[in-house]
Amino acid sequence: MERLQKVMAQAGVASRRKSEDLIVAGKVKVNGETVTELGTRVSLADRIEVEGVQIVKEEAIYYLLYKPRGIISTANDEKGRKTVVDFFPEVEERIYPVGRLDYDTSGIIIMTNDGEFAYLMTHPKFEIKKTYIAKTKGIPRREDLRKLERGIKLEDGMTAPARVKTISVDQKAKAAIIEITIHEGRNRQVRRMFDAIGCPVDSLKREQFGNLTTRGLNAGEARPLTIHEVKQLRVLAETGKIG
Ligand code: URA
Repeated sequence: MERLQKVMAQAGVASRRKSEDLIVAGKVKVNGETVTELGTRVSLADRIEVEGVQIVKEEAIYYLLYKPRGIISTANDEKGRKTVVDFFPEVEERIYPVGRLDYDTSGIIIMTNDGEFAYLMTHPKFEIKKTYIAKTKGIPRREDLRKLERGIKLEDGMTAPARVKTISVDQKAKAAIIEITIHEGRNRQVRRMFDAIGCPVDSLKREQFGNLTTRGLNAGEARPLTIHEVKQLRVLAETGKIG
């Protein structure tokens, strides 16, 4: 038995939070009866209707995509540009990206049809760590990197503490490669953090997401996540650590 809002999110109806709103608003029926209790548990055998439409319970699937630059990370693009979903022509389930990567950012993006899992991976309260490799224009000063570490003021507020490591510095080209680990996921956050210290990002790659890395994949390639990896990511979200 699973909680009703979890089953709804997994079926792709809406995020778990929006599913809760739909339940409380009296828009959900289980076996013909309107249910407004958030604690309600349902099984695969129960017939669930949302605003009069029966939901289809799909098997949950999970992929890791190494997104190349120049690809949109939404399910569909109104301008008809290639999206992350276009890398999965053979997948019939309605998968979508977990969170976003900018058009010009490469690296790990998880694709799934499991809304509950997507919520666990993206809500800042679960603090899933994401590591980026940023090539900067200009060489950040040590004290500026400390600011990034401690938290820096952006137009939408202070950032949470980050882990920052200089990988290399090219004095001649006035550029640096910096590794930065954050657990928030604000829009263009890493780019804005480097803008705030006067060293804009030239290129950005998400190298690690929780326990996942791009190891073994080239840009544009994907692989299914193992059951173990999915479980580990859930444990990471729920407890903050693995093992
Ligand atoms: N931060 C950014 O600035 N861009 C991304 O795509 C991800 C994190």
